[in-house]
Amino acid sequence: MAVPAATSQLRLETDAADMPRIHTGIAGVDRVLGGGLVPASVSLLAGEPGIGKSTLLLQVIANLTAQGHQCLLVSGEESRSQVASRARRLGIDSSRIRFGPGRDLASVVEAGRAEHPFLLAVDSIQTIRDSGGSQIPGGTAQVRACADALLGLAKSEGIAVLATGHVTKEGDLAGPRTLEHVVDVVLCFEGDPGSGLRALAGGKNRFGPEGETAWFEMGPGGLGEIDPTRLFVSDDPHAGAATGLPRAGRRALGVEIQALVGNPEGPARRQTTGIDPRRFSLVAAVLATTIGLGIGRAELYGASSAGVRVDDPACDLAIAAALASAATGIPPPRGAAFFGEVALTGQIRPTPAVESRLAAARAAGCRTVFGPGDPGRGDLVPEGSRPQDASKNNLRFVPVRSVAQALEWAHKPVESRRSKG
Ligand code: TYD
Ligand code: MG
Repeated sequence: MAVPAATSQLRLETDAADMPRIHTGIAGVDRVLGGGLVPASVSLLAGEPGIGKSTLLLQVIANLTAQGHQCLLVSGEESRSQVASRARRLGIDSSRIRFGPGRDLASVVEAGRAEHPFLLAVDSIQTIRDSGGSQIPGGTAQVRACADALLGLAKSEGIAVLATGHVTKEGDLAGPRTLEHVVDVVLCFEGDPGSGLRALAGGKNRFGPEGETAWFEMGPGGLGEIDPTRLFVSDDPHAGAATGLPRAGRRALGVEIQALVGNPEGPARRQTTGIDPRRFSLVAAVLATTIGLGIGRAELYGASSAGVRVDDPACDLAIAAALASAATGIPPPRGAAFFGEVALTGQIRPTPAVESRLAAARAAGCRTVFGPGDPGRGDLVPEGSRPQDASKNNLRFVPVRSVAQALEWAHKPVESRRSKG
């Protein structure tokens, strides 16, 4: 005879706004979560290897621990000593953080039941094995079984579970995509591991709005939150500053790029803060030769607003605009943003993620975007990077093929001054 399942009074789900929320101590993380961590829930922090998932997890744990919430970190990715040394680098006191190995599902669940932490942090969901199951290790069914078990633990014990999950470069969630249906909240951590800019974007969220984004910079002391509204100038153009549109994952952000020309006779030193010094020197050399900007021997400085680290080659054209503007004293056109990789020949190369750059330009209050394209053919832009949304966004897209075309506003007057004098 079948044993009846345990029954209980049906309670309607409380409104998302009434959910108890625990603040993580990182405002952007709380915002993307919809107000903070919700007890008895499972959240997935998904991202490519090297993007900073373990770092963010540890920073959240440190903050919660400091607030008096007990946290248990189980890691199948790193050993206790690796976690401790990361904590030291981040200036985190790890003495009150509980740690356990995170490779065997049964022992993870058992540890969760026994220790009953407020937060169970799992790094990562893919490294847990369900040794009792018959599925292939690492396979989708296996990862899903682990997520189901964590969900059961979260709901029965009232624990908030925050688990990291790897995604591949192609955005394929190699497991986590199937997890989206199981977990309550998905947070996508994006960026280029070679660059400092990171976006934390809210995906599925059972307790809050989807699509919130928070911005971070990965620095020597870990992840620091960036206020994106402080990174660009919207309406008051000034000489030596141009808006660039660096990308982090599928998103982009408007960032002010600044340049200063020191002694024009040198020493021909180049010094940068935030901007990749190699790209800065290369762009300066291209400008000196292709449009005859007299900065070849000059002392040059470059910076990004707030020193945010931008290594995206698509910022070349904004660096060029800032340098040309600094050298001529002519500000870029009002409300202009620039993107495109500068080749040694002075040609502008197409760059990926055009749509997200245009969205970033709009968010930054820009009205004109200079980017790679064929001016002779109007709005026709190289295959795969057609800024179809430009007009929808009330943005004017100015297709340019060379730095000379992109910087006409700066060097035309120089030429006419020359021809007059
Ligand atoms: P990590 O959190 O290990 O990424 P994930 O868990 O997503 O694989 O961090 C990845 C990189 O971040 C690491 O290779 C070095 C860099 N990093 C910093 O730049 N500063 C820091 O303070 C830390 C901890 C890491
Ligand atoms: Mg990691």
